[in-house]
Amino acid sequence: MKKVEIHPDAVERVKKFTINDPQLGFGKYVAPIMIQALYDHGEWQRFDLLPYGPLQLDPCSKVLHYGQEIFEGMKVFRHPDDSIHMFRPEMNARRFNLSARRMAMPEIPEEDYLNACSTISAYCKHLIPKRLGESLYLRPFMIATEVGLGIKPSKQFLFIIVASPSGSYFAGDAVKVYIERDDIRCAPGGIGFAKTGGNYAASLNSYAKTIQLGCDQTMWLDSVEHKYIEEMSGMNFFAVIDNKVVTPTLTDTILDGVTRKSIIDIARAEKIEVEERKLSIDEVLKAVQEGRCTEAFVCGTAAVVAPIASFMDKDQTVYKLRDSQGKIGMQLREKLIAIQAGRFDAPQGWTYPVRDLNF
Ligand SMILES: Cc1ncc(COP(=O)(O)O)c(C=O)c1O
Repeated sequence: MKKVEIHPDAVERVKKFTINDPQLGFGKYVAPIMIQALYDHGEWQRFDLLPYGPLQLDPCSKVLHYGQEIFEGMKVFRHPDDSIHMFRPEMNARRFNLSARRMAMPEIPEEDYLNACSTISAYCKHLIPKRLGESLYLRPFMIATEVGLGIKPSKQFLFIIVASPSGSYFAGDAVKVYIERDDIRCAPGGIGFAKTGGNYAASLNSYAKTIQLGCDQTMWLDSVEHKYIEEMSGMNFFAVIDNKVVTPTLTDTILDGVTRKSIIDIARAEKIEVEERKLSIDEVLKAVQEGRCTEAFVCGTAAVVAPIASFMDKDQTVYKLRDSQGKIGMQLREKLIAIQAGRFDAPQGWTYPVRDLNF
């Protein structure tokens, strides 16, 4: 495993840093330190913990033109005994490398990825909020830094982790979903399963439309038949139909969410029936109208689990969910939050303790 070099000025900066804001919000504050690793000559050269600051990039760096970049999103929680724990970080490490392979980028050995995440978390321990549902959000990412305008994979990369003490992503209201029937975000054989900027860039035009129509989230349908639900721009989707929890089967156009997997596992442990299958938007809307789809929710690391209030179709017809504070979704959310916060026994391997530095 590669050692992370700790720069004393980074330690001094983070030690002095405090946040006095009861409304942390999501991604509003960033810790004044970051992990940085350089890849060159076919290997990861070094890992450093540095003061947070702007990057100096040559204007011809490949990431700026061809979008060769990937990222992750994960959380670190404070437990009642004051110890801190990452939530299922191995899953993020594996997904990061899956994204890296698809984007012709170098993998990071899982132990180096975990050690880097653990190191920045340890130095941010005093910034990890105590309140239930709050956490330290980690954003590891990798960019192509080779200079040159030729379209080919970079040979040089930068891996960075920044950390943001965060509260909830949504203010608390149920989410209004806009069904995108025209634009597509990614196609079979493409990059949908990878966590790479291009998927999000492709979603932003619809996001603007979604907001203009008074909704909060865009729902993406499959790009071939424009019929089957895939996911939101940054979250996975669940509906409760005939008392069963249903979610679209994973394909190469859907991100394999850590929260999605955890919700399925928690639901099954609670003896709630879960179906992973193709789920058409028309089936869901019909079931909403017939009162058989009583609730629906989105889930993701940032959003945790948020109930859906309504779906808006292309013709602006609104389909309201009967239970916009969904009982089942909230039950699963509470269980997940309790596990993450160390207030309920976690299944084997779900929490990953971060060593205490006492620095
Ligand atoms: C497109 C997309 N789908 C789903 C998710 C949920 O994934 P996870 O639960 O791993 O955060 C995210 C967030 O990371 C996302 O960006």
